Amino acid sequence: MGLKKKLNNMNQKIFIKTFGCQMNEYDSNRIYDSVKKIGYQKTDNYEEANCYLLNTCHIRDKAKEKVYHEIGRLKKVFRSKQKPLVIVVGCVAQAENHEMLKREPYIDLIIGPQAYHKINNTILAYNQDKKKLEETEFDAIAKFEYLSKIKNNNSKVSSFLTIQEGCDKFCHFCVVPFTRGPEYSRPYKQVIDEAKSLADNGVKEIILLGQNVNAYNNDGFKLSNLIKEIQKINEIKRIRYTTSHPKDMSDDLIEVYKYSKKLMPLVHLPVQSGSDKILDSMNRNHNIKEYLDIFYKLKKINSNIEFSSDFIVAYPGEEEKDFKNTLELIDNIKFIHSYSFIFSPRPGTVASKLKLIDKAISMKRLERIQNKLFDNQIIKNKLLENKTINVLVENQKADKTGFFGRSEYMTPVIFNGTEQDIGKIVSVKIIKSNQNTLFGEAVMSVNQKVA
Ligand code: SAM
Ligand code: SF4
Ligand code: F3S
Repeated sequence: MGLKKKLNNMNQKIFIKTFGCQMNEYDSNRIYDSVKKIGYQKTDNYEEANCYLLNTCHIRDKAKEKVYHEIGRLKKVFRSKQKPLVIVVGCVAQAENHEMLKREPYIDLIIGPQAYHKINNTILAYNQDKKKLEETEFDAIAKFEYLSKIKNNNSKVSSFLTIQEGCDKFCHFCVVPFTRGPEYSRPYKQVIDEAKSLADNGVKEIILLGQNVNAYNNDGFKLSNLIKEIQKINEIKRIRYTTSHPKDMSDDLIEVYKYSKKLMPLVHLPVQSGSDKILDSMNRNHNIKEYLDIFYKLKKINSNIEFSSDFIVAYPGEEEKDFKNTLELIDNIKFIHSYSFIFSPRPGTVASKLKLIDKAISMKRLERIQNKLFDNQIIKNKLLENKTINVLVENQKADKTGFFGRSEYMTPVIFNGTEQDIGKIVSVKIIKSNQNTLFGEAVMSVNQKVA
């Protein structure tokens, strides 16, 4: 018997919950673009869902348990109702695969990050024969070929666009090479077409995504080529990219900062540690001098460029002097905002076999690094008080007390805008600030400015 092309009842409701990084957010949107074709409509109320899709993250410990807790909660809510179709996708789905179906029979389908092109047929097949399935092979080419034929419907002011996926670097702490598979760069034309289609939807800012976004290379076309081509699209006002690896911060990419008006002056470049010994043991393949060289090269091009980063504290073998090196690096660079985490051993990684640092010391180090990082944020935000900055306006706040946008450095800005400001770059005078947010008043829309 052949597979039906749509569900019997075209009024099916899907609830999508997303954990993890920006790429999971992008993927969840693309999964929805796909399942809409077979009859699903999104709902924000999961109690009315016929399908519950959980997009998962495996980056740190507890991620897996979070998935089972989530399903436990779902079971309780649906105890006296018709069970929804339960689909687990994302990095935990890839890492745990059929084990999940054994441990939690409430789950019906498991689909890994490089098998999303199979999602519609997997659902339709399940609908017909109720056979539980796990799809976890790595087939990034087929996935992106399939998805490129389905319109990306995102029409928000700021949209993600995955250009590269997977990782061949195998940092000793990280599960990503195991969950996302080998490094793959999408065809150049496929990316440009998607960027144009997002611009047609009304998108004004594109954030190019990849686990190693600056390693993008498709037949010699690099990230710098993509940025130069996307900035030709009139409607696109801002371009960003994340996450970069210091090893791939090539001169052609650094050069783009010399003349691009649309590439934002914020470089998110995770360093993880300020100690060469720890970087070596993490298999990061660069040292602090090389990282600082990139920083100074960019600062020379444009002194307004700011850096943000990710840090891992209490990596096995990290002594007080290594940790102090990290604090020194933060003092040197004064990162504008950063993420910091205690090392979490991940199954299958080299570092999972190393001796853990005492929990109390780890927690204390996290507190010390965060105090320093947050103090920097507070100082940088305070310096903007009484200054006028450019803000790309994204939406009205849910409680209607103001409008929300972001500075060139991604800092959230709340101000007294109007609905007409949404999607525009507006000059905002900053009145107040705190660690994470700037508060201000609109001066005028940059688009209305007279030369
Ligand atoms: N590809 C990016 C890079 O090379 O910097 C990072 C990708 S990872 C999704 C995001 C961040 O999670 C990392 O930069 C690292 O700081 C953190 N992370 C990854 N594995 C971790 C682990 N085992 N324990 C704690 N933090 C971890
Ligand atoms: Fe993970 Fe390292 Fe790859 Fe980043 S570069 S995704 S940290 S293995
Ligand atoms: Fe998490 Fe996978 Fe992203 S492990 S951080 S969802 S690549």
